Amino acid sequence: MLNENFFRLRQNYIFSEVAKKTQAFKATHPDVKLFSYGIGDVCFPLGSCVSKAMSDFADKMATDKGFAGYTAEGGTSDLKDAICAYYKRSCGIDVFYDEVFVSDGAKSDIGGLLELFAEGSSVLMQDPVYPAYSDASVLRGMKVGTVAANRQNGFLPMPPNTRFDVIFICSPNNPTGMSYDFAGLEKWVNYAKKVGAVILFDAAYSAFSPDGYPKSIFQIDGAREVAIEICSFSKGFGFTGVRCGYTVVPNKLQVSGTGLNSLWRRRQAARFNGASVLAQAGAVAALSDEGIRQAEVAVEHYKSNVNVLKNRLLCRGLSVYGNGPYLWVRCPDGFDGEEYFDYLLENKHEIVIPGIGFGEEGKYFVRYGCFFR
Ligand code: MLT
Repeated sequence: MLNENFFRLRQNYIFSEVAKKTQAFKATHPDVKLFSYGIGDVCFPLGSCVSKAMSDFADKMATDKGFAGYTAEGGTSDLKDAICAYYKRSCGIDVFYDEVFVSDGAKSDIGGLLELFAEGSSVLMQDPVYPAYSDASVLRGMKVGTVAANRQNGFLPMPPNTRFDVIFICSPNNPTGMSYDFAGLEKWVNYAKKVGAVILFDAAYSAFSPDGYPKSIFQIDGAREVAIEICSFSKGFGFTGVRCGYTVVPNKLQVSGTGLNSLWRRRQAARFNGASVLAQAGAVAALSDEGIRQAEVAVEHYKSNVNVLKNRLLCRGLSVYGNGPYLWVRCPDGFDGEEYFDYLLENKHEIVIPGIGFGEEGKYFVRYGCFFR
């Protein structure tokens, strides 16, 4: 029998749809230069220390002494140590070695983590939302509830009155570019404690957290009892092609008396043979002093794009929300997001993402990404 949940998915994935339309436009307008504000793909090369670490590792792989076969599915010890040290350095918190699980990027774990929960469990997410959460939840047969992120709540929804088993939170947010402050995240942690929910916190954009805002949910008191954090080297270190990320499942986190850390370890043993050792060698270098310094150059550039782009859009008379790396932009009167996408492509040669791809609340919005040079 087929998994009927496939038929409940939106027919097309928004980023594939945009890529298709862009290709069609390019085919008929080969001389037009397009400005890409679409999918959040990085556009600076890897830090040289990262590429050197990977090529050195590749060379070693061709020797008897340096060859590496299967490694522990949770990640190499060098990388797990480096991740723990990075947590301490970037937000002053202790994450323990056995709480870290290296992955091939955030998206795989977003879907995989839902296997910790029974089919039919309830999951809450904001609308608009990164479609990987909604798609993975639908495929898993979960009951999806949404809370609107709109102009009334400053695009930062607060917990509802009803109970959910699982909550997705992404901050800085994809697609709105808004970030929860400490007080905002505290409300979600307290809610999760009160109703016995687990927060899946997507920190893929933590490199873009505004100063004074939390970079990790574990900066909130009590979060270790209710939250899992999913992180990625993609945006902050330019690893969208290399593929490496990590998930932190705290030892203290329990559901119905069972620790989720041991369940996730068992799940990974069943379903994952570890991230590429080359990618992991690169990730260790990325977290070195030099790697962090090199990555910051690109991140600072993307951050400065936020202001440049925001001003340009404000000058067009548009309402612009968010602080990056995405801007959430209300379409001018008379357009919905899909129509405005077509208008921008044809007339301004700009590629954006129509907001409807992130949910009904996005119907009259488009998303601009700030990953450009
Ligand atoms: C986005 O543009 O939303 C992201 O780059 C897509 C992704 O990370 O999968």
